[in-house]
Amino acid sequence: MDKNINDLKKYFNFDIFADIYDKTREISNSFQSIISLIFKKSGFKKGDRPIVLEVGIGTGMVISYLPNLRNLVPKYIGIDISKKMLKILQKKYKNSDLEMILADAYYLPFKKDKFDLSLMVRAVHILPRWKDAIREVKRCIKDNRLLVIITGGPGKKILNKCPSNDKYLELREKYGYPLFYYGADWAEIPEFIKNELNAQIEIFEGTYSVKKSLKKSLIEFEDQSMTWHTQVPKNIHDKIVQELKEFLLRLYGNLDIEEQQLGCFNIGFIKFNKSN
Ligand SMILES: C[S@@+](CC[C@H](N)C(=O)[O-])C[C@H]1O[C@@H](n2cnc3c(N)ncnc32)[C@H](O)[C@@H]1O
Repeated sequence: MDKNINDLKKYFNFDIFADIYDKTREISNSFQSIISLIFKKSGFKKGDRPIVLEVGIGTGMVISYLPNLRNLVPKYIGIDISKKMLKILQKKYKNSDLEMILADAYYLPFKKDKFDLSLMVRAVHILPRWKDAIREVKRCIKDNRLLVIITGGPGKKILNKCPSNDKYLELREKYGYPLFYYGADWAEIPEFIKNELNAQIEIFEGTYSVKKSLKKSLIEFEDQSMTWHTQVPKNIHDKIVQELKEFLLRLYGNLDIEEQQLGCFNIGFIKFNKSN
């Protein structure tokens, strides 16, 4: 299928998902320990005053795991291209020191060598020019400091594994609209970091298991709540959802159940040697 850039453009901007984002996006329950690991690996010591950049901060799901934000990181700057995502973030953090900037990941409005840590969480897979975005972070981060990239995948594993998602993927293939990444597939990232940027990457891959109400999942399908739902024209998407419902009804007997889902995440801890 052709990825028409004009069609895609409207989906890079999360304005259309902002109102439903927090209700429809889960984050793995192991995220708290991931955050601890990030701060451990960043090597910050008491008294350090690190400056942190989050690219594609969205509604602030990552910092919701940092209740001691002010003590831990006196200067946390989040950038995002979506006004509406930032508006929601602003409401949540109106009395905090969090700095939010409307900016494009490809043109970060910062001088070089400013940051002590940078995070890109669930962002690179929707950035078509993800390599340029990573190069831009490299420009803004200090020598030998951490960039942490967290994403799902590789390949179709960006969706949790369970009968509803497996069938959805099968139906997309049947209708000629296989799932694709707007940006990076995880499988491409380590090679890019090592071979093109000549940087080090340490990789953690993990899985998690969640139970999710099938009714809730079906509402998300019906409302085209996920970026990948919008890759398919609405009339075809509706047909897929109808067939999906019929399949799930045959499989489970009713739709009032909880489905066990297996999720997968990847973390890349990247260090640039800026003299390279
Ligand atoms: C899937 S959300 C992830 C938000 C948050 N990091 C999280 O894990 O919940 C991706 C975010 O990237 C932002 N984004 C997309 N393209 C961008 C760009 N070119 N520059 C900056 N942010 C962008 C979207 O607006 C959205 O808020």
